[in-house]
Amino acid sequence: MKIGIFDSGMGGLSLLHKAIKYLPGEDYIFYADVANVPYGSKTPEQIRAFSSAAAEFMIAKGCKAMVVACNTATSVAIEHLRSNYDFPILGIEPAVKPAVTHEGHKRVLVMATPVTVREAKLHMLISRLEAQDDVDLLAMPDLVSFAEREEFGAAVEEYIKKQLGDTDLTQYSDLVLGCTHYNNFKDTFSKIFPKETAIIDGSRATIRHLDSILTEKGMRGGGNGNVEYYTSGGVLADNAFCEKAQRFLSRLEEMEKITCGTL
Ligand code: DGL
Repeated sequence: MKIGIFDSGMGGLSLLHKAIKYLPGEDYIFYADVANVPYGSKTPEQIRAFSSAAAEFMIAKGCKAMVVACNTATSVAIEHLRSNYDFPILGIEPAVKPAVTHEGHKRVLVMATPVTVREAKLHMLISRLEAQDDVDLLAMPDLVSFAEREEFGAAVEEYIKKQLGDTDLTQYSDLVLGCTHYNNFKDTFSKIFPKETAIIDGSRATIRHLDSILTEKGMRGGGNGNVEYYTSGGVLADNAFCEKAQRFLSRLEEMEKITCGTL
């Protein structure tokens, strides 16, 4: 039985990338809701409806578990999904905990979509960690679209700098990438931020969590790292999408080598 990985678009490939690497004995379905990306500008009700459609698709495909590889969908839909569908559902969340607990940390900057920054889930996480005074939040509304368009050059660097304005970046020991699309810009972030700033994302921890849940339930294994790609409405992805996905996976692999300071 397969593991379903779902995102609004290409951002979730960063989760898939880690899943293939660390859990190669599984098969995967990757579902990208490309008709509705970006979720960051949608209402919570819309995002819950999109996420439910993804869960129903994964169930129809016989998936044994689903990973919501979208911080935005996790922030507004994870409880709704868990109370409506009877299979293990995991969600990625901004990795604030490792950022505020590692030794020697200073201030932490969390970048995410407008929905994630606004919604209660992230604020509750930060207050549970008693880190309100150490964490700044910054919405980056256009970054998802830059990633979807595969724009990774000067224009995106300009955009990120504009959003940061005259913020003193040397105050940050950690930059938390609270949107899976942002993992595609790690090279640009590492150019803009001081080299001491660690760039953290929650994908490795989410895959570790998936491993332990499946192991606990006796559901691990049975595959070979095969991936089937689907887009909105459960449509089997065409060649253009599969090629685009491969370009993202290669880029993510490259960036693992060049990014320094990543926790
Ligand atoms: N990858 C999604 C996330 O992690 C992006 C949401 C969007 O489509 O705006 O938040």
